[in-house]
Amino acid sequence: MMEDAINWLRPLGKSGLEVSALGLGTVKLGRNQAVKYPQAFELPDDTSASALLERARELGINLLDTAPAYGDSEQRLGKLLAGQREHWLLCTKVGEEFGAGSSHFDFSPAHTRASVQRSLRRLATDRLDIVLVHSDGNDMDIIGQSGSLETLAELKLEGMIRAFGMSTKTVTGGIAAAQLCDVVMLTYNLETRAEQAVLDACLQRGVGTLIKKPLASGHLDPSVEDPVQASMDLVFGQAATSAAVIGTIDLAHLEANVVAARRAIGAS
Ligand SMILES: NC(=O)c1ccc[n+]([C@@H]2O[C@H](COP(=O)([O-])OP(=O)(O)OC[C@H]3O[C@@H](n4cnc5c(N)ncnc54)[C@H](OP(=O)(O)O)[C@@H]3O)[C@@H](O)[C@H]2O)c1
Repeated sequence: MMEDAINWLRPLGKSGLEVSALGLGTVKLGRNQAVKYPQAFELPDDTSASALLERARELGINLLDTAPAYGDSEQRLGKLLAGQREHWLLCTKVGEEFGAGSSHFDFSPAHTRASVQRSLRRLATDRLDIVLVHSDGNDMDIIGQSGSLETLAELKLEGMIRAFGMSTKTVTGGIAAAQLCDVVMLTYNLETRAEQAVLDACLQRGVGTLIKKPLASGHLDPSVEDPVQASMDLVFGQAATSAAVIGTIDLAHLEANVVAARRAIGAS
């Protein structure tokens, strides 16, 4: 039992936070426009979303990933998590805004600070556990020129956030972020392993990693026998992986993902 707990709850690098091996991504709680999932979907109502969060919690998940760009995901979480804030680690982002069907980006210090303050209000909390810069793909420009990461470092010193980092889209950006951040969020799955060097850099520096799109956003290869298990084996085969953040609004999928992740880390 002790070993089980040790495997499932994992240090997020040197941040001092302990994340469950699986996190729940919440794009599908707030946004169903301009997304790249294989099938169109309806946003779940409050009853279904509450049931999903409750089941996630029962299954030992303590990490929720959201963003201002995920439609009204933050506002919904703020409402649905009332009275249970202490259980969760909340990860949100800054830099991307989504409205009228498309995204725009602002990585300036002023917007970064205002965005964090808005996330605190929307999530109905006085601190954010993790805040990531939500890259538009120009990772190195954001890191070198925008001041966004520096602002997040200030907000951490001020006590508004507990850890900060960047959700990167390039190998060079991911490696650069690993020199400056507590956490890097990166893509790694059966279809896309190009960011292996980012994982290596994070491992070397003791930086926490959150794997986004671990199931290739649902574009699973039908020729793979058990693609969910194969995906979890791949992701957790990496010593650098802190947690895999899977986006689902399907209870059966949530449960299957936890079984597969536990098997992959040897905690089943
Ligand atoms: N730029 C960024 O910062 C960024 C970008 C992308 C993602 N993210 C974060 O990473 C999270 C995960 O990425 P993602 O949502 O794009 O992709 P993902 O987790 O790889 O895949 C989610 C898709 O797979 C389906 N799925 C989940 N479990 C399944 C199972 N057991 N069997 C079959 N299908 C399953 C989901 O549909 P059902 O709802 O039907 O289960 C959904 O369509 C996001 O939710 C978000 O929090 C961040």
